[in-house]
Amino acid sequence: MEALILDAALKTATVERIPIPSPSSNEIIIRVDAVALNPVDALYVFNPLGKTGRVIGSDFAGTVESLGPHVPFLNPHMRAGQRVAGFLQGASSVNDKPGAFAEYLRIPHDLVWQVRDNMSLGDAAAISLCALTAAQCLYYRLGLPAPFSHEWSRKANTSCQHHLTVFIYSASTSVGLYAAQLVRLSSKVSNTPIRMFGAASPSNHPMLSSPPYEFAALVNYRDPDWPAQIHSLTSGQGVDFALDCISEGSSVAQVASVLAPHGEMAVVRSREGKAWEVEEGTLPSEPLYGAVWEGLGEETEYQNMTLPASSRARQFAVSFYRFLSSSDEMPIQPNPIRLMPGGLNRIVLDGFALLGPGTMEQRDGNRTEEWMKPVSGEKLVYLLKADEKSN
Ligand SMILES: NC(=O)c1ccc[n+]([C@@H]2O[C@H](COP(=O)([O-])OP(=O)(O)OC[C@H]3O[C@@H](n4cnc5c(N)ncnc54)[C@H](OP(=O)(O)O)[C@@H]3O)[C@@H](O)[C@H]2O)c1
Repeated sequence: MEALILDAALKTATVERIPIPSPSSNEIIIRVDAVALNPVDALYVFNPLGKTGRVIGSDFAGTVESLGPHVPFLNPHMRAGQRVAGFLQGASSVNDKPGAFAEYLRIPHDLVWQVRDNMSLGDAAAISLCALTAAQCLYYRLGLPAPFSHEWSRKANTSCQHHLTVFIYSASTSVGLYAAQLVRLSSKVSNTPIRMFGAASPSNHPMLSSPPYEFAALVNYRDPDWPAQIHSLTSGQGVDFALDCISEGSSVAQVASVLAPHGEMAVVRSREGKAWEVEEGTLPSEPLYGAVWEGLGEETEYQNMTLPASSRARQFAVSFYRFLSSSDEMPIQPNPIRLMPGGLNRIVLDGFALLGPGTMEQRDGNRTEEWMKPVSGEKLVYLLKADEKSN
């Protein structure tokens, strides 16, 4: 099969032929139809952690090809031919595991969700990693009420309040768009009105004010006084919860400045990774950080840290995927996608050029092709063998 393989010395990835994987007893083999790009995929090709020869890439959607011998007993509903989506870690760690940018992959049977017939696999590929990231931040770390049951015992102190305020910095990121939808679901299941504020470019404000996001008010993160605008929108109270979907440079300090005295915030990048800095002692409380990889339930080594294997985080991911699979209608909408031309062979040349080597500031804005305009409120998606398979 063809796969996109890391070349750590040249800091790139190239399409190579490797054997089709075989499933272990509780795994399934998936024929991959679509993959979506995440900044982290590009980051660790341009700054390799893994060894040459690793399959790169995280988000995928595809069709179940075969089942490991125990899967029919563990999951009697799982069948070859089902359409599913999920993510793997790819080369974003020291751990030696293959990623998703390949014609076939193997994954534990319970770390995928069922894609409904009325959803394209291109749309489905854009959901798993960023939606789970948003769910972890809001329900698992900040403790907002979740629309599904899970074993994480931390609960935010929301009971004595008639309404809550939530602020999402960089609301048009893939993570931010799912976070907004999950905040709305939290409000619905807990019967607690939530006023949601966001920061994004004004060109995205009309989309963000509309369903399914419905921000109550939006500010432009390029306005130097945006924190004052948020304070004024909350009548000087500050917000109860905040999620910084960029966590770069001064963003963490700025987002912390709009928190109410009891407020809490989550970040998507770690202090250890040094994407953001704050002066010692200036934050009211330490921002809550975690990595989506925890959902895979294995020890992960990256960014000079070791995230221990967490069965609780894995169980949370399984519960979230069941939630996506089991209700009559898909509970969240996929983010807008940009279908990129070509397949695996164009990902580094085009997709990774757009995502850049690490920070939003380093993104390439010099290419003139229609599909190379800067990423704003959408996910880059590639169909594998686009000419042979339908979307
Ligand atoms: N902890 C985890 O496990 C985890 C998981 C997933 C992602 N992440 C991290 O989360 C971050 C966001 O990922 P993503 O996939 O959601 O990003 P993305 O969709 O690629 O982000 C694109 C958005 O970034 C916004 N943006 C660009 N420059 C900005 C700036 N200087 N300040 C504020 N916003 C800016 C743009 O907003 P406008 O167009 O509105 O200007 C654009 O819509 C990345 O750093 C990623 O590595 C972490």
